[in-house]
Amino acid sequence: MRGLAEVDTVAVIGAGTMGNGIAQVAATAGYDVVMRDVETDLVERGVDAVESSLSRLAEKGEVDDPEAVRARIEGTTDLAAVADADLVVEAVVEEVGVKRDVFADLASVTDDDVVLATNTSTLSVTEIAAATDRPDLVVGLHFMNPVPLMRGVEVVVGERTDPETVAFAHEFAERLGKETWESDDKPGFVTNRILMPWLNEGVRAYDEGVASKEDIDRGMRLGTNVPMGPLELADHIGLDVCLQASRTLHDELGDRYKPAYLLERKVAAGDLGKKTGAGFYEY
Ligand code: NAI
Repeated sequence: MRGLAEVDTVAVIGAGTMGNGIAQVAATAGYDVVMRDVETDLVERGVDAVESSLSRLAEKGEVDDPEAVRARIEGTTDLAAVADADLVVEAVVEEVGVKRDVFADLASVTDDDVVLATNTSTLSVTEIAAATDRPDLVVGLHFMNPVPLMRGVEVVVGERTDPETVAFAHEFAERLGKETWESDDKPGFVTNRILMPWLNEGVRAYDEGVASKEDIDRGMRLGTNVPMGPLELADHIGLDVCLQASRTLHDELGDRYKPAYLLERKVAAGDLGKKTGAGFYEY
């Protein structure tokens, strides 16, 4: 296995909400980053998001040299550009078929001692790993949104993940300034197993007229000391991401994880939260 001391270049697959955040924190920690998405405008949007985030952090004095960090990130649509990566972190859409295809491709283009990590929120790391020739080097590195601001990273241990790979995942996250915890490869891991029912109950409470959306969020913020209520947090995560995660949990764990009807309807209407300008709130 290629150890942390040998990692210079990190490839990030997917330039969306999570991918561009992971690219940014890796470049901030001094790594060269190759960020890959499927279309040029998606790559550009990801790079733009990194630039605006870096300039906000620089204004607050939290990044010294935003241009130098930005210069370490190369955006691309070319899968061959990840061939020289010493570590890959995947953050593409939350669909097991897509992730398995991506991992099979990654295993064929990268050197065979390179760790392949997935940022999946709910899918089985074991099932994704089985699409590769190196399940022992596949691990879950579940970053939280927004990546540059959230301290925590959940390390997810697949059925065949080698203990050395697990240790490597913790060390890499710590190198990015994060703190970690570990979860077995069970649906939703620790965080989403507990978070998703909470979000869905917030959506149901709103749909059933228990209170206004503002009062549901305000009630949970003031009443339970969380920084965001369920509806604003769902908008922030992306309603499509919440729905996909809820469906996986429902399939695996049964009716207590059934997605809220209004969540299904919002996603069907294309109102995905902050990223499309409307979800439960307007942005
Ligand atoms: P997103 O929809 O913002 O971005 C996904 C990106 O992947 C899109 O730009 C899409 O074009 C790209 N993509 C799809 N197929 C690809 C391929 N074959 N190669 C390269 N790029 C490809 O989604 P988001 O929110 O960034 O989620 C990504 C992953 O992170 C998912 O697995 C999700 O469950 C997980 N996650 C999301 C969190 C959130 O709050 N949004 C939090 C933690 C994990």
